[in-house]
This record gives sequence, C-alpha cells and structure tokens, in this order.
Amino acid sequence: MKTESVDFLIIGSGVAGLRAAIELAPSGNVLVVTKDRPSESSTEYAQGGIAVVISDEDTVGIHGEDTLKAGDGLCREDAVKTLVEEGTDRIRELIDWGAEFDREGVKLALTLEAAHSRRRILHAHGDSTGKELERVLLSKVKSLSSVRKYPFAITTDLIIKGQECHGAYVLREGQVTALLAKATLLATGGAGQLFSRTTNPLVATGDGMAIAFRAGAELEDMEFVQFHPTSLYSPTAPQFLLSESMRGEGAVLLNVNRERFMSRYHAMKELAPRDIVSRAIVSEMVKTNSRHVYLDLRHLGKDFVKNRFPGIYSTCLRYDVDITEDLIPVSPAAHYIMGGIKTTINGETNIKGLYAAGEVACTGVHGANRLASNSLLEGLVYGARAGIAARESTITPLEDADEERSVSSIPNSDEIHSMLRRVMWEKVGIIRCSQSLEEARNVLSAYDDILCRAYGKRHELELKNMLTVARIIIEAADRRKGSVGAHYRSDYKERGDRWHEHVKLDRSHVAFQSCGRDLM
Ligand code: SIN
Repeated sequence: MKTESVDFLIIGSGVAGLRAAIELAPSGNVLVVTKDRPSESSTEYAQGGIAVVISDEDTVGIHGEDTLKAGDGLCREDAVKTLVEEGTDRIRELIDWGAEFDREGVKLALTLEAAHSRRRILHAHGDSTGKELERVLLSKVKSLSSVRKYPFAITTDLIIKGQECHGAYVLREGQVTALLAKATLLATGGAGQLFSRTTNPLVATGDGMAIAFRAGAELEDMEFVQFHPTSLYSPTAPQFLLSESMRGEGAVLLNVNRERFMSRYHAMKELAPRDIVSRAIVSEMVKTNSRHVYLDLRHLGKDFVKNRFPGIYSTCLRYDVDITEDLIPVSPAAHYIMGGIKTTINGETNIKGLYAAGEVACTGVHGANRLASNSLLEGLVYGARAGIAARESTITPLEDADEERSVSSIPNSDEIHSMLRRVMWEKVGIIRCSQSLEEARNVLSAYDDILCRAYGKRHELELKNMLTVARIIIEAADRRKGSVGAHYRSDYKERGDRWHEHVKLDRSHVAFQSCGRDLM
C-alpha cells in the first residue's frame, strides 16, 4: 500500500475544513482531502447567508439568546457564546481576504430569517453566499504554499492505533493510500442524502460521522435533523432550496386552496422556527390532500425579486416557474443535522489526534434546532478553533500503516440506496413514532452485512456510510421519548421528563446484526 506522511490531514473542503487549513498552514504541511472537486460541498450551495452581529441595533447577547431559543433548551451555552463572540472577527477577516457581501450604499446589507429578532444576515450576490465564502477561502488557501489539495479521493477509514488517530486511508482511482498525520480533522459536512427529499448536494452522505463512529468516536444528538420548510416541489425539476430569506423579505405561504395559514400555527407566522413551519406545512398538505403548498412572492415586485434572488430566479425559470409571477410549489426537505461527532469547543473528539468541525461535529451550539444562517458562521468559528487545537496534537506519527483489505462489492446498490432514502423520509422524517422507527430499523438491519466489508468504489463506500448513519439516527430518535426542537414524535408529543439529556451513542450502543465480523 502506498503511504504518505503529512503533518496535518483535513478531510473535507467546505468552510470548516478550509478555515482550519488556514490556521494550520504556518505550523506544518497540510493536506486537504476531498472526495469530489474542492468546491463541491454544502458550503458552495448555501444561499441565504451568514448571521453575524454587525449592526448598531444588535448585540452578541441578543444573537446568543436567539440561538439558545431556537435550540429549544439543548444548546451548550459556552458553545453559543463562543460562536456569537468570535463570529464578528471571523467575518471581518473574511472581508479583508476579499469577501464581497451585498451592500446598501456603503453599509453591509442585512436581511432577516426565521427566529432572528434582528436583521443580521449578510448575503452575497443576492442568494449565493456560500459560493462567495468558498471562493474566498479557496483563494486564500491557494496562496499558502504549505497547503495542498487532494481531490477525488474518498476516505475509507481512519487509521487507529491504540486509542489514537494517526491519519486515514483514502481511495483514489482504485488505489488505497495511507495518509499518516499527527492530527486528523474531519470536516466532511452533513448527511441530507439519507432522505429522499433534501436540499443537500450529492456529496452529503454522512461519511465523516460513519468513519468516526467505526473508529470508536462518540456521536451526540443524532436525532435532531432539521427539515427546511421550502424546497421546490416539482416532478420535473430537481429538489432545490428556496431560501428562508425569501420569507425574511416578505414572501408568504399559502395552501393549495390559496389560503395563508401560518398565523394558525405560530405568532411569528412565516418566520416561526423551521420545525414549526415544516410541521405546519405537512399538516396543511394532509388537510388538503396535496403534495405541496405554495410560496408567494408576487407582491414583492418583479425587479426587487429578480435583483434580490437572482440565482433562485434563474434556476426556477429553467423549470418553467417564474417566481415573480407564479405561485411556487414547495414542500419541506432534510436540510441540516444538528448532531454529529461530539467535540469540545476546540474541536477535540474522544479519540486523541482526531478533531472535527462544521456540520459533521456536534459542539452543542445548535441544540435541538439550528438558528437559520448560523451554520456558515459555525464553520468559520469552529473550523478556526479546531485548526488551532490540532496544531497542539501530541501524537507521535506512525512510520507506516500496513493494513491491506480485500474489497467486496454490493450487488443492487442502486436499489438499496433508493430504498434507504425512502425509508428514512417516510419513517424517520419530520414526524416519527415508535412504530415507524421500529419499521425502519427492521428494514435497514437486513443490510447490516454491508457494514462489515471494505469496498473499492465511491458509491459503495457512501452507501455503507449512509446505512451506518441511518441506523445511528434511528437509534437516537428511538431513545428520545419526547418531542424537542426538530425531533417530533407523534407518540410522545410532550418534551418528557428527561428532555434535557443529550443522547450519546458509540458503537457499543447500536445493535447491528452480527455478520460474524466487526464493523469495518
Ligand atoms: C436558507 O437560505 O434558507 C438556508 C440558510 C440556512 O439553512 O441557514
């Protein structure tokens, strides 16, 4: 097996991974591994914006309170404090590196999104904020000679010796390479592809969570999956996010009978927390026997809508929806996972030498429900912090890693992939109950054998990771016998006595069917 040694290994090239690389660059050589093009990450597709305290009418205290309130009692307060306090410096630094956020005159333009009590969302090119962040961070990384990128290489597993992480095995063009490092940082993003309706790009298959879990890491809060209320619903168009900032600018929701309904569900109407809006939409869809509701922007004026949301306007037009004139069919879709690899506020995991940041991690900053537009900020703040902590890793690097595995293949992988996404959407989606979770577990556990083998193709490795993370979400959702934040159980509608406890899972907690071997 080919072996390569680096000082710092970063897996994932979204905002958290790139921000960590910038922090690590002065301390040694850094390799950023990514399974696709470096820009192909959830960051690239983020529309609405990035929340930050920058206006005179706002304070970090108020941003913190909004974050805690959205998190429904389960945020870790030190993580929230760190996010809001360090956020402004991370943004100013980004502007110094060339980020161009939209302005009104000379002042930065700020919009509103659900559950924010102040206008504090910066945006770029109207609705392409993530693309702008990715552009600036990639260009900054390019200027650092100690950082190299290693694209189209999927990580198969971490290299664990004793209780320490020494790097990772990666597969590129059919060949496995052992990348040895004194610190390994996972920044692989989320797992939206586990659900048949999602706003996430194809790369969001839960890889980092699955490989960390296999290596013995502890995962936390995995039952908390956020469903975005408004994703384009059309049988002839791909799923596509319709940014919450559209509702922030005044767009309203109508059911198929053209009735505005949100005032029946929450005083904040269309800007209620996402879980409430998503469940309200589902309830209206059931009542009206329809597969969608409508988002209506027609009253906002053609020029305003075209200028403010140019990307969404042109994408929808390609599918024959003119958002300035038509009602837009929308329904909820899986968007973000609040849970992940449990970390400290410095990105440390329970495995020495292994760090995590961004959506793959769970610092507890989002609690049971993430406040809109806090995720790019999280990537910047916690990516930087994890990078700083990883510099101090005391792992003695290995000289070589000799593990050779024979690879298997998965017959019918396309069918299993599609079945998994359907089961997760129908049984583990916006509304769950003990029976639906049991049904999902029964169906998916029949494929546990897949988790005990190594694979030589990206789509098979992704499927293995998706099956692993699906089983973890089901387990966590089953253990939380109560409804909190984004986790709603029709059989336990109240919060329950133990609502304040976090669900922590490692591989000893999930009963995979024995396949005569260990997970690998
Ligand atoms: C959006 O633009 O609605 C997404 C923003 C977010 O999820 O934070």
